[in-house]
Amino acid sequence: MEPLPCGPGRAAWPLTCLVLLSLYGWPGAGAQVGLDFELQQPQDKVSVTAGETLNLTCTMSGVGPTGTVKWLKGWGSGNETVYDQAVSFARVTRVVSESNTDFSIRIRDVRPEDAGTYYCVKFDKRVGSLDVFRRGKGTVVSVHAKPTPPVVSGPENRTGLGQRVPFTCTAGGFFPKEIDVKWFKGKDRISVQPPSITLGRTNSSYDMSSTAAVTLQEDDVRSQLVCEVRHSTLTTPLRGTYRLSKALRVSPSVSVVADVPSPVEVNKTVNFTCHVKRFYPGDVAVAWLENGMEIKVENISQPVETPRGLFELRSVVEVQATEEKNGSVFTCRVVHDAQDPVSGTATLWIAAPARGGSSDRTQADNDNLLLIYIVVGVVCTVLALLVAAILYLIRAKQSKGKSSPSARLHEPEKSSEATTQESDPNNLTYADLNFDRERKTIRRMVEMSQQSEYACIQTNRGPTGDDNLTYADLDMVHLSKAPRRPAPQPEEAGSEYASVQIPRK
Ligand SMILES: *[C@@H]1O[C@H](CO)[C@@H](O)[C@H](O)[C@H]1NC(C)=O
Ligand SMILES: *[C@@H]1O[C@H](CO)[C@@H](O)[C@H](O)[C@H]1NC(C)=O
Ligand SMILES: *[C@@H]1O[C@H](CO)[C@@H](O)[C@H](O)[C@H]1NC(C)=O
Ligand SMILES: *[C@@H]1O[C@H](CO)[C@@H](O)[C@H](O)[C@H]1NC(C)=O
Ligand SMILES: *[C@@H]1O[C@H](CO)[C@@H](O)[C@H](O)[C@H]1NC(C)=O
Ligand SMILES: *[C@@H]1O[C@H](CO)[C@@H](O)[C@H](O)[C@H]1NC(C)=O
Ligand SMILES: *[C@@H]1O[C@H](CO)[C@@H](O)[C@H](O)[C@H]1NC(C)=O
Ligand SMILES: *[C@@H]1O[C@H](CO)[C@@H](O)[C@H](O)[C@H]1NC(C)=O
Repeated sequence: MEPLPCGPGRAAWPLTCLVLLSLYGWPGAGAQVGLDFELQQPQDKVSVTAGETLNLTCTMSGVGPTGTVKWLKGWGSGNETVYDQAVSFARVTRVVSESNTDFSIRIRDVRPEDAGTYYCVKFDKRVGSLDVFRRGKGTVVSVHAKPTPPVVSGPENRTGLGQRVPFTCTAGGFFPKEIDVKWFKGKDRISVQPPSITLGRTNSSYDMSSTAAVTLQEDDVRSQLVCEVRHSTLTTPLRGTYRLSKALRVSPSVSVVADVPSPVEVNKTVNFTCHVKRFYPGDVAVAWLENGMEIKVENISQPVETPRGLFELRSVVEVQATEEKNGSVFTCRVVHDAQDPVSGTATLWIAAPARGGSSDRTQADNDNLLLIYIVVGVVCTVLALLVAAILYLIRAKQSKGKSSPSARLHEPEKSSEATTQESDPNNLTYADLNFDRERKTIRRMVEMSQQSEYACIQTNRGPTGDDNLTYADLDMVHLSKAPRRPAPQPEEAGSEYASVQIPRK
């Protein structure tokens, strides 16, 4: 305003002023006004880390037109006013407030989206509208941004052993684009494809996503996945972790064991124990069924964690082994992690009661009985054999004795001469002949043996000597062995009888 002669002090020549104004007009005055005006924006490029303060420098010198000074981000359409003298901005302050020459600003807490080209602009307000009078050459601001802490995500649902499961590591908001991602399972490196990097929501930073496929194993319950991210803005790498137990399912093995051997004695108590082993996670539902019908659960223990991080549990059901339960099937049904049930079964066999036995007749008793039977049998057999042997011996002896006919001589009580026999017929010497009829005939016997025994048939008449003896062939004589007849009586005077005489030597 100073160059114009129409100041308040020159009020005496207003007309002159108007004339002058009309003579020279605005453009002439403007050219004069801006002749020594200079706007300096010295920074070409500024790099700032997110969260820090960005200093943008702009200085002016010389005389400029009436009009505000602004900082614009971007040019043309889509430009954004960062600073305006007339307006206050939350994060933006003047370095030297109220200065007419230094229009440097500070933007604190820089964000990735603050990246862009900044222009310091002097506007000219002299014509009705606001025109750009001068602008700086622009400062390119890049905001280096640290990636957000990486986050590892796993499958939505748990997966069984041996399955290959994808895990994803994501980090975002970083600038510049270059980033390094490594995966580890515990301490072991997992090789992966390079991460996919996309421009972020605001076009000023990048996001990345990296995927690793891991085959789950039983001991992964205690394993951890690590996603390690390195970036130029970081002094130490950032790590994202994932406990594999969150993704893992180890299905239990189920078995049912009875505490007494099968078959079980009637009315005994049997405890069936269901062993639920090696499962993860630790929550299971155990149910008992008898022939498919659910029965009351006696006792289910709390899952116990094994040193390897898996769980175990047992459940006991007590059963009275009544006869009706013979052949009953006891099933332990385990539902784990919303999967199909895993079952274990055992069948109750009741031993048939022993014959006539009471409830206290045990298997041992039956065994003893069997033993007794065997012993008795053996003893009887031995006895029978002994008897047979004895009988055989006796028979052998007997047959030996019968091998030749035996004769026993009965002599009169009074020892007298053979000649006196006629006086008392009762005093006859007679003999019992013990001939074996089935064997050789007597004749043959007689003829064969030199020491033949002769039978003599005598009448009751007086003896006439040895010559008068009548010899009888014993073949014709019927000799009966028993009963022994008494000696012939003398009154049967006329009868003839036979007697057998053994000659004496
Ligand atoms: C900006 O200016 C402030 C104060 O003058 C200073 O502390 C800060 O380090 C400067 N920032 C840059 C990036 O130069
Ligand atoms: C900034 O954008 C507005 C419309 O949003 C436009 O009218 C104006 O001319 C632009 N200014 C510059 C310097 O490009
Ligand atoms: C996860 O399980 C639920 C129910 O169990 C099922 O509806 C869903 O489809 C499963 N998701 C996947 C990815 O398998
Ligand atoms: C980001 O940049 C792309 C081109 O590079 C553009 O098409 C898109 O509109 C931009 N998005 C934003 C939010 O600026
Ligand atoms: C069966 O289990 C019960 C308790 O569950 C116990 O009191 C009983 O002694 C067990 N019986 C046997 C034979 O182990
Ligand atoms: C269940 O069994 C556990 C041991 O297996 C025992 O400590 C607990 O007392 C039992 N509970 C019942 C109600 O029988
Ligand atoms: C139980 O059944 C088995 C096989 O059918 C049979 O051998 C046994 O004698 C039965 N026990 C009783 C007590 O009926
Ligand atoms: C078993 O018990 C039932 C009832 O308790 C009884 O009627 C039956 O006689 C018992 N059986 C034996 C073999 O003891």
